[in-house]
Amino acid sequence: MMNILIVGSGGREHAMAWKIKQSPKLKQLFIAPGNAGTSLLGTNLPVGVTDFEGLKKAVLDNQIDLVLVGPEVPLCAGLHDFFSTDESLKNVLVVGPHQLGAQLEGSKDFAKEFMMRHQIPTAKYLAVTSENLEEGLSFLKTLNSPYVLKADGLAAGKGVLILSEPEEAEQSLKEMLGGQFGAASSKVVIEEFLSGIECSVFAITDGKDYKILPVAKDYKRIGEGDTGLNTGGMGAISPVPFAGEVFMQKVEDRIIRPTVEGLQKDAILYNGFIFFGLISCAGEPMVIEYNVRMGDPETEAVMLRIKSDFVDLLVGAAEGTLAQKSIEIDHRTAVTVMLVSGGYPGDYEKGKVISGLDKVEDSIAFHAGTSFKNGNVCTDGGRVIAVSSYGENMKEALACSYKNAGRIEFEGIYYRKDLGFDL
Ligand code: AMP
Ligand code: GLY
Repeated sequence: MMNILIVGSGGREHAMAWKIKQSPKLKQLFIAPGNAGTSLLGTNLPVGVTDFEGLKKAVLDNQIDLVLVGPEVPLCAGLHDFFSTDESLKNVLVVGPHQLGAQLEGSKDFAKEFMMRHQIPTAKYLAVTSENLEEGLSFLKTLNSPYVLKADGLAAGKGVLILSEPEEAEQSLKEMLGGQFGAASSKVVIEEFLSGIECSVFAITDGKDYKILPVAKDYKRIGEGDTGLNTGGMGAISPVPFAGEVFMQKVEDRIIRPTVEGLQKDAILYNGFIFFGLISCAGEPMVIEYNVRMGDPETEAVMLRIKSDFVDLLVGAAEGTLAQKSIEIDHRTAVTVMLVSGGYPGDYEKGKVISGLDKVEDSIAFHAGTSFKNGNVCTDGGRVIAVSSYGENMKEALACSYKNAGRIEFEGIYYRKDLGFDL
């Protein structure tokens, strides 16, 4: 029996809390800082995700045995390293890579160099700083439109520009290097554009062995038909029809196994999740990006399909005993539909009272951005509630989520009604 602390406050963390809560290995569950939804499953602690001293105190005060880190920011800031080097914390299990491994997400250049070194299929690229701007401009000339420019560092999902005109691309490259995304774009990765359909593949690893979790597709654009601005994610579907057995075997042979072996060859300790952002180019998987955490909202669908004890997998990853664990996947489809605040991903208001959560039937309403105010559950972010459902197929699962989405209300509510349109 163990006490577990989840670090984070979104729908991903609520979905993980829901899954962990089902484990016979759980004693007490804590979430820092959590949201209104997680407070129904465990104890929320008012500590921010990068407040390392605050997290240390929370772990010691509550005799936490295992810390599961949801978002990338604390990992890139070295939360796991902080735990391993602190005398009083070094026996606490941590799920999430150390700072070096977290660079797979924290630096696009680091990730590209890693993929080159280990022959993992990805787009051609060049890393550019103000030192080799001329080389960058020449590299752009060798590419065809559209042009992909990526801020090297973390930019909260906003650091990628896709431009159709060569002049625009040159101009944007200069602006990015000039500080458009602050320090994150003092280095820019220029990439060849890949065309195809994207999916999210997840693995959990202890740095030697790995288990593949259910594959999902997320919907990033705000508008129906994949139009308008990028968001954190408007919904997800798992499994993904085009990512069948043949495709997934290629993914494992060419991408997942070489990645885990690459981590070992490079002596990068890694205990946690690897999120492979993939694109299928005529059936051939290529890596668009690595993330060092689970996806959000993919997790709100993926957790429904993991039948095995999730805590057992977490312990395996953290302890280095994953080879002895097994993962069983539910054959059903799981989907999640994200209900967002009016105006998102631009400016939006918070604090709107949410009603109808008690009317939800046969779906799970994971809280993404909520808080309690005067006894009411209120909106507290752009993405508010993720309505997750099972079905024998995608259509059935989506119908269930949409039926329940219709029962939930708050001022300005918006969600996409076309998820799965492209599958
Ligand atoms: P990233 O932050 O690297 O995931 O990029 C954000 C989005 O930009 C991805 O989900 C893709 O839709 C798109 N993208 C990134 N890199 C490429 C590429 N090389 N070719 C085509 N689309 C890309
Ligand atoms: N849903 C994409 C992400 O979590 O980055």
